[in-house]
Amino acid sequence: METTTTPLLHVLVLVLFLLDSAVAQPILFDPINPLLNAGPVQKKPNYETSFTGNWELVRNSSDVSAMHLAITKENKAILFDATNSGPSLLPLPAGNCRPDPTSKTNGEDCWAHAAEYDFVADQLRPLKVLTNTWCSSGGFAADGTLVQSGGFHEGATAVRYLNTCPTCDWIEYPTALSVNRWYATQQILPDGSFIVVGGRREFSYEFIPAPGQSNPSNYKLPFLIETTDDVENNLYPFVHLSTDGNLFIFANNRSILLDPRTHTILREFPPLKDGSHNYPASASSALLPIRLRSSTTAPIPAEVIICGGASHTSAALAAEKMFIPALRRCSRLTITKPSATWHTEVMPTPRVMADMLLLPNADVLIINGASKGTSGWGWAVSPNLEPLLYRPSSRRNQRFMTLAPTTIPRMYHSTSAVLPDTSILVAGSNPNSRYNYTAEYPTEFRLERFYPPYLDPELAIHRPRIVKELAPSSVTYGASFQLVFDVADLGLELADLKVTMYAPPFTTHGISMNQRLLILSTAELSLVALGRWTVAVTAPPSGVVAPPGYYLLFVVNRAVPGAGVWVQLQ
Ligand SMILES: *[C@@H]1O[C@H](CO)[C@@H](O)[C@H](O)[C@H]1NC(C)=O
Ligand SMILES: *[C@@H]1O[C@H](CO)[C@@H](O)[C@H](O)[C@H]1NC(C)=O
Ligand SMILES: *[C@@H]1O[C@H](CO)[C@@H](O)[C@H](O)[C@H]1NC(C)=O
Repeated sequence: METTTTPLLHVLVLVLFLLDSAVAQPILFDPINPLLNAGPVQKKPNYETSFTGNWELVRNSSDVSAMHLAITKENKAILFDATNSGPSLLPLPAGNCRPDPTSKTNGEDCWAHAAEYDFVADQLRPLKVLTNTWCSSGGFAADGTLVQSGGFHEGATAVRYLNTCPTCDWIEYPTALSVNRWYATQQILPDGSFIVVGGRREFSYEFIPAPGQSNPSNYKLPFLIETTDDVENNLYPFVHLSTDGNLFIFANNRSILLDPRTHTILREFPPLKDGSHNYPASASSALLPIRLRSSTTAPIPAEVIICGGASHTSAALAAEKMFIPALRRCSRLTITKPSATWHTEVMPTPRVMADMLLLPNADVLIINGASKGTSGWGWAVSPNLEPLLYRPSSRRNQRFMTLAPTTIPRMYHSTSAVLPDTSILVAGSNPNSRYNYTAEYPTEFRLERFYPPYLDPELAIHRPRIVKELAPSSVTYGASFQLVFDVADLGLELADLKVTMYAPPFTTHGISMNQRLLILSTAELSLVALGRWTVAVTAPPSGVVAPPGYYLLFVVNRAVPGAGVWVQLQ
């Protein structure tokens, strides 16, 4: 996307641009939550663009349905389906079939149900997953290993590990969990361990044991029984690690703050009225970007957002082929505030089964999904083809922007992910029980990239480029480090910049587990050569605020992010 003009030309273009830049709007902070916006105040406006994004078909087939998707620190997309949805389009290497008692061909299944997609080289490598990953959960461990839990049948108690080496494949422990975790949510904790919450007809949580060990028991969570209704509406609960080490858990229309160290429910928040928000009424949720300051003693506010969902009755109606509109509301709650109440806004269009991605510039992208019905095979119609940009720190009535539509419906079992170059990989969609090429909404294999507004080619000269060779490969908690980057903007000031750090999520069923974006504290911006700058950055204070692992580090110039570099936080 980027042009390769010289820095001097950039300067000339910049002068012309400045003469014409009165179009930009001032940045406006959310009046309801001033605390979240403390820190260096940006004085100049964001670079504005009328570009509503752009879609590109990058590959005709992922060959495996992308029900689950995650991006590794080696710049690979790991995508996988269930193992019982029929033959995929990707064979396993000859002589390397998986045993499958249900198969009519020698008790073997010779098709891959997982794949590694190299989105830089555009290459697909089959992976061999043995136990059933249908509606499972996952996250990245501190060393970058994908740790993946639960699923269906023999996979329901499994924990699987995928290391990032070029020939690595799944290592599976089928009996690691104490009970079946099907539609459960996995969340990393401050020490790098994982909790797995809920699952179909399992009203409890447990912690992923060391490889090879099996959990003898678990912790009961009656809240999950209390929030299930006639069509459940509380599966894949939203779980977010707050900045105080507690877990925010949202199920159906209620939410609690759980201390996972003492197994105590510290408080219950007010209910979210008028509808359900978890599977099959799948809304989407994110922990909004966390702004860090250099002082580590003050509590750090954390805020959650939930958008869309469906009425309590929508799934029962969809089963009868009656499709009612999804919810249009977005609601925000400051989970670090004891007396917090929900603040509600209305989206331009209704939405269920969307993905909610935190963008490198701390905006939010709402993408994929349907405007009628719920999750479930054939339970939705009216694909919502237009992504939405949501700017959490803009003024209340100026936060949404409707973006350019795709032509490909992405409903049940669709996924998406932020890539290091700041574009979005969009994959999957299979609202059928098996691979099906004739249904109204067939199994969708095409892979697209979506380029959000900040990738407007006209903003290219403002895009900071981190000098990779000079960037740290690892940083320790609380340490200060230097980031060197190139950008042609002459009058660049510290307040124009954000340095953000993104934990790549594990995405399935509209839930992006373990997604986290930190806005780091910065100091001392210096010009070190023509167009080259260095900025001092402070790493997050602890694993409570940012669990250990690999993050993408971005420099953002007045809302325009440049490509990210991977850094290990430890
Ligand atoms: C997808 O397939 C079509 C038709 O065969 C072809 O024209 C197009 O170039 C392919 N696109 C990609 C990205 O491979
Ligand atoms: C929460 O959802 C349940 C059913 O899903 C419903 O019976 C209850 O009235 C809802 N509560 C509120 C406060 O809306
Ligand atoms: C595909 O879906 C259609 C519509 O639901 C159904 O009639 C058909 O039997 C399915 N085909 C396969 C191969 O499952």
